[in-house]
Amino acid sequence: MCGIIGYIGHRDIVSVLLAGLKRMEYRGYDSSGLAVLGSDGIDLKKRIGKIADLEEDLNGQKIPGWLGIGHTRWATHGVPSTLNAHPHKTRSGELALIHNGIIENYTAIRDDLSRKGHHFTTETDTETLLHLIQDYYRGCTLEEAVREALKHVKGTYGIAVISRTEPDKIVVARQGSPIVLGIGENENFVASDMAAFIEYTKDVIYLNEGETAVIYKDHFEHKTLNNHKINRKPERINLSVEQIEKSGYPHFMLKEIFEQDHTVEDAIRGRLREDEGTARLYGLGKYKDALTDAKRVIIVACGTSYHAGLIGEYMLEEFGGIPVEVEYASEFRYRNPIIEPGTIVFAISQSGETADTLAAMREAKHKGAVCLAICNVVGSTIAREADAGLYLYAGPEIGVASTKAFTSQITVLALITLYIARRKKMSILDGQKWVKEMKSLQRKIQTILKSDGYIKKIAEFFKDRPNFLYLGRGYNYPVAMEGALKLKEISYIHAEGYPAAEMKHGPIALIDKDMPVVFIAIKDGTYDKIMSNIEEVRARNGRVIAIATQGDEEIKSKAESVIYVPEVAYPLMPILTVIPLQLLAYHIASFRGAHIDQPRNLAKSVTVE
Ligand code: F6R
Repeated sequence: MCGIIGYIGHRDIVSVLLAGLKRMEYRGYDSSGLAVLGSDGIDLKKRIGKIADLEEDLNGQKIPGWLGIGHTRWATHGVPSTLNAHPHKTRSGELALIHNGIIENYTAIRDDLSRKGHHFTTETDTETLLHLIQDYYRGCTLEEAVREALKHVKGTYGIAVISRTEPDKIVVARQGSPIVLGIGENENFVASDMAAFIEYTKDVIYLNEGETAVIYKDHFEHKTLNNHKINRKPERINLSVEQIEKSGYPHFMLKEIFEQDHTVEDAIRGRLREDEGTARLYGLGKYKDALTDAKRVIIVACGTSYHAGLIGEYMLEEFGGIPVEVEYASEFRYRNPIIEPGTIVFAISQSGETADTLAAMREAKHKGAVCLAICNVVGSTIAREADAGLYLYAGPEIGVASTKAFTSQITVLALITLYIARRKKMSILDGQKWVKEMKSLQRKIQTILKSDGYIKKIAEFFKDRPNFLYLGRGYNYPVAMEGALKLKEISYIHAEGYPAAEMKHGPIALIDKDMPVVFIAIKDGTYDKIMSNIEEVRARNGRVIAIATQGDEEIKSKAESVIYVPEVAYPLMPILTVIPLQLLAYHIASFRGAHIDQPRNLAKSVTVE
């Protein structure tokens, strides 16, 4: 995790770095810092807390200089503290370094360097890397010293290093953590995410694994870690500043929930063929046939993306006729999975940078599987390393709790399912119905969003409960898990998501008059069964909140609160049913005064194992 930024050019360095760090605060927010190189050497400012705290410390102070680096941290080695915050500077004041990733063999390197007389002051793995570079920085250039040092490092890094004795450059390198260069006119940028510098330039170069760059004010050199030149042209990115601002919403999460009518539509745009009742999936390129003929599909993902994968499993098996397994990427990567010929692996990841998902995909590729990505962040590592894939086109998701990415992931999985189903058994008429249903989603999401005020009232009523249970069946079982995840991560209330029928095998023991139980009780094939489960909860005085199909009057007599959603074909229902759960979690967290966009201990992009 962590966000890094570097800038060299004519603008006020501190302002550029602070603005960039704020855009990347989703990557970590326990401490931050910056280093500016000017005629008096490297000036360092850092502190524990959010970027706003660092800004307050600086109090509008200008630090004269022509280049700088900045960092927002999500602690891995060493507690969050001002001392452990980056940048790290050598005692002599010659070098400063920022780092995103983990140096796995740092203890061995540290012991070795300590024997040589190096003195360490922090608990971080990053300081070890700085000393290692310093150790090699004798009689050679900074770039050479960085390259040499990195040969001895195991682990992951995205780094930026500056030197007082080579004051015209920033040296950067990437292995396992994203780095993107922003190419401007007489100014250049580097960051973990292009959002950090998007108002200055839209021309970017993504570094691949094992690549380095040296950035000057008016040019840059791009190489491999083995010192071979790379001539990759900058690409122009289609991202506006408005897309990464809050646009009047109090939190990014709320803005992103309210964007879903558009983001679901954006995932569909240009991908439906009404006449043929199918989907067109250009992004899958030559792998479309392999997908249709697949003997087995494995979906690897984490967190919310994993929940979307579970819904994909239901759809692909029922309509695509392909056996599907969904695996936590973190488990898949370490358990020597069997990949037979004809296996397609889908890696689902909003950020496209989740370390476990990336590693799982690499392992599957290594074993010969065709790997297809479903990612939101364009140009992300998973998107680039996959054989092919489909983007969500949901725009930047900045709130740490994933919302719009989830509904877009299900939408894309529905497109894939439709495509496969039509090439197999689904009739053109059924395909056309599916297309029609997908097209109706935007309007139906708008209807649900109108219930926000009512959901807020329910949230106020239940906000102080210490536990919540979420229950659903079939396609809405993963939605129950997602609803529980949303609540726990932003409100810190303990919540569990379960298949409703499983309740009697354990969780029912928890139910008493203080336990809110959120049922996703949609009029589908599971409705009667779920009504019985509601009765079981009521019989034990549980407090029932139901997400129900518009027009279902019967449920009013069984649930304390009912939130209605419009009807849609049942495989698509999770796209609608999850939205009230996102809003419920949001408002409960808001009533509890929680840090909604930056919940404690979390980070948006989990680039460590
Ligand atoms: C939950 C959440 C996380 C992510 C998970 C995977 O709200 O945000 O559980 O879903 O870390 O992230 P991606 O999709 O970027 O791979």
